[in-house]
This record gives sequence, structure tokens and C-alpha cells, in this order.
Amino acid sequence: MTPLDLWLTRSIPMCLLLQSLVLMALCFPSASMCPKGCNCQNLPHGLNVTCTQARLKEIPPDLPSDTILLQLDRNHISAVPDRVFQGLRHLRRLNLSHNAVETLGEGAFSGLESSLELLDLSHNRISSVHKDAFARLKARVVVDDNPWHCDCALQQALGGMAHNHEAAARVLCRSSELRDQEGRPFLAVDADLCNLAKRTTDYAMLVTMFGWFAMVISYVVYYVRQNQEDARRHLEYLKSLPSKPKKPDDPSEDISTVV
Ligand SMILES: *[C@@H]1O[C@H](CO)[C@@H](O)[C@H](O)[C@H]1NC(C)=O
Ligand SMILES: *[C@@H]1O[C@H](CO)[C@@H](O)[C@H](O)[C@H]1NC(C)=O
Repeated sequence: MTPLDLWLTRSIPMCLLLQSLVLMALCFPSASMCPKGCNCQNLPHGLNVTCTQARLKEIPPDLPSDTILLQLDRNHISAVPDRVFQGLRHLRRLNLSHNAVETLGEGAFSGLESSLELLDLSHNRISSVHKDAFARLKARVVVDDNPWHCDCALQQALGGMAHNHEAAARVLCRSSELRDQEGRPFLAVDADLCNLAKRTTDYAMLVTMFGWFAMVISYVVYYVRQNQEDARRHLEYLKSLPSKPKKPDDPSEDISTVV
């Protein structure tokens, strides 16, 4: 056996082994790779993915499917696209606090209904949410420090939460459909914001109808008054007519009698 043969017989299996390792790494990237800027740590039941303060502008699209804890806090994330967490079937805790999220659509947390236990949305810019944004979530949702606009959709969204009273108690209305709710906690004013809109339209309708009614009545009154005036004047004229020839000092009468 020449040295070349010896080298070949030893290196070919090594090459094959290396090649298969590279192939394996390429074939299972989602299970083993950590998103850029994040730190992944193995826990007994899955991954602890920490992307705190990673200057993220959006939610990483390549989150490992075995993530159970996900920290996305202190970033610049401004949107939670529908179904973005769809693949994370085992996610238990999601921290999105200290970001720039403004609104939440219907499917923002879809896929997390059965697994999620805690959702932190505090310190964002959320003013409005879709009425079903939290529907079917069993998680405790933290919503403190957001510039909430309190309206019917928010009332419905809070109503659909498992821990709704706790969340509602921490919603401070930056603005509201209801004047006296502005700057106050959502629960401080016991009002049905969903029937409010209906009541307002009912009220507007009533006012309009009353306005029309008042206009018709005043026209009728005016018309009658005007007619009364005309009738009175006409009557006076009629009264004055036959009295004219009976005037005793009428020279024409004198002349006629003379004639
Ligand atoms: C998850 O990872 C972060 C940072 O690496 C750490 O601070 C935290 O304690 C970890 N959580 C658990 C439950 O191990
Ligand atoms: C989420 O992160 C913030 C800090 O960025 C922290 O104060 C807060 O306690 C975390 N929330 C949960 C539920 O761990």
C-alpha cells in the first residue's frame, strides 16, 4: 500500500462524515438555529429565546418551533402581523413590552390559544385593537402604559379575554368615545360603549325629527296668524264698505235727495 492509498482510505470516510454533518445542519435549520440578535438556551421542554434590546424592527420570521419562552422586549417592533406566531405551538410566555406596537389585528396571536400563559404588551403605543384580537387566548395579558382609545372594539376585546377584569382594570383611556372617560381607567366609568353609538344615532334622529316637527308647527302657526290678520283686515274692509253711503254729512247724498 502506497502512502497515497493509505491517505485515501482514511480520508474518504472522513470526507463523507463531514459532508453528512454539513447536510444535516442545512436540512434542520429551524430546530437548531437561533434568530440573529437573539440568544437561545435549552430548557427541559424547549427553547428559551431572548431577543431583549436587539434593535429589532420586526418580529424575527425564523423563530424556532420549539420555543417556549420568547423575550422580544425593548426593541423597535411596530407591528404584530397576523399569524406571525402560528408555528410556535408550545410558546408559554411572550414578552413584547417596551416596543412601538400601535395596533393589533384579528389574527395577531392566532396559534397561541392553547399554549400561551402570559403575554406582556405593556409600554407600547397601542391605541386600538381588533375586537377579536385576544379572543380564545387563555393567557394573562398585561396591557399597562399604552395610549388606549376606549371604544366599542376595545370593550369587546377585553370582554373576550379569560382574565378580562384584571386587564380592563389596567387600561387607562387616553381618549374615549365618552368625554368623561378620557384620562381615567376604563373601568371607572360604567358605560356600555357599544350601545353608546346606537344611542347617539337614536338621539340624533330624535333631535332631527323634533326639528322638523317644530318647523312644521311654526309654519302652521305663522300661516294661521297671517290668515287671521288678512281675515281681520278683510272683515274691517267689509264692515267699512256699507257704512260709507250712510254717512249723514255726505254731500253727494244731499245732492241726490235734492234731486
Ligand atoms: C431565559 O434566558 C434569559 C437570558 O438568557 C434569562 O435571563 C432567563 O432567566 C431565562 N429563563 C429561564 C426560565 O431560564
Ligand atoms: C418583560 O420585559 C420587561 C423589561 O423589558 C420586564 O420589566 C417585564 O417584567 C417582562 N415581563 C414579564 C412578564 O416577564
